[in-house]
Amino acid sequence: MNNSDFSPTERPGTGELPHGRPMQTEFDTGLDYPRLGSVTFRRGTLTDNQETLFDEHWPRLGRLLDDTPVDVDAWFGRTGHPTILEIGSGTGTSTAAMAPLEEDTNVIAVELYKPGLAKLLGSVVRGEIDNIRMIRGDGVEVLARMFGAGTLDGVRIFFPDPWPKARHHKRRIIQSGTLNLIATRLKAGGVLHVATDHADYAEWIDELVDVEPMLEFKGWPWPDAPLLTDRQVITKFEGKGLDKDHVIREYLWVKK
Ligand SMILES: C[S@@+](CC[C@H](N)C(=O)[O-])C[C@H]1O[C@@H](n2cnc3c(N)ncnc32)[C@H](O)[C@@H]1O
Repeated sequence: MNNSDFSPTERPGTGELPHGRPMQTEFDTGLDYPRLGSVTFRRGTLTDNQETLFDEHWPRLGRLLDDTPVDVDAWFGRTGHPTILEIGSGTGTSTAAMAPLEEDTNVIAVELYKPGLAKLLGSVVRGEIDNIRMIRGDGVEVLARMFGAGTLDGVRIFFPDPWPKARHHKRRIIQSGTLNLIATRLKAGGVLHVATDHADYAEWIDELVDVEPMLEFKGWPWPDAPLLTDRQVITKFEGKGLDKDHVIREYLWVKK
């Protein structure tokens, strides 16, 4: 892995990612990783209220992808609590609904889309939720650059972008390399939880459930899972899926 090509962000307090080509770690595992270029850093506009909220609270509750490992205890102001990374939190519907039920857990939501983060920030501030922090950036890079081996108790990926066209399948976040990277970041006994409502993506994941030797596939449900697995809410995307009679598939793995 080569991290030397990473240059620090330009305006760390603003939640803005640097312009130009996004950083992509060169992995030397021979496994498959989602390729960006694809993922556009959608600008999206914040409402005036969201801007004000962002200016006030982002510096404390959020940070940008960079090469500084996250000091979880310092960021959450407490020691020894389990930490879960949610990749692609969207507007944070599940994140904000689950976090109050897992107050002992540190939840870090990773998302590229600033308006989504602004919405979650609003929920966190209004709901006085103490156990959520946010990182703006690509989840693969956040895992690779900001978390050391064996530092996470859980990773969640709920309704990842399905990239339905065959020529875009390589953009899907669930790939052999991502599963390997997640496995290295999880502690022994740590859990990966994935959900999708996209039948074709489910078939894709079905083919990958046993591909990573460090992850034991537990299927769904797994009543003895050591973390909260009930997502609590029907998300926007899940709701759309249900309208179309899509079936929701959930997947759990444990780090050996
Ligand atoms: C289909 S939405 C699902 C959002 C949310 N999990 C839900 O269930 O409502 C997928 C989200 O993943 C985000 N995303 C896609 N690729 C990502 C990446 N590489 N790192 C972080 N977030 C990503 C997108 O911006 C989008 O908000």
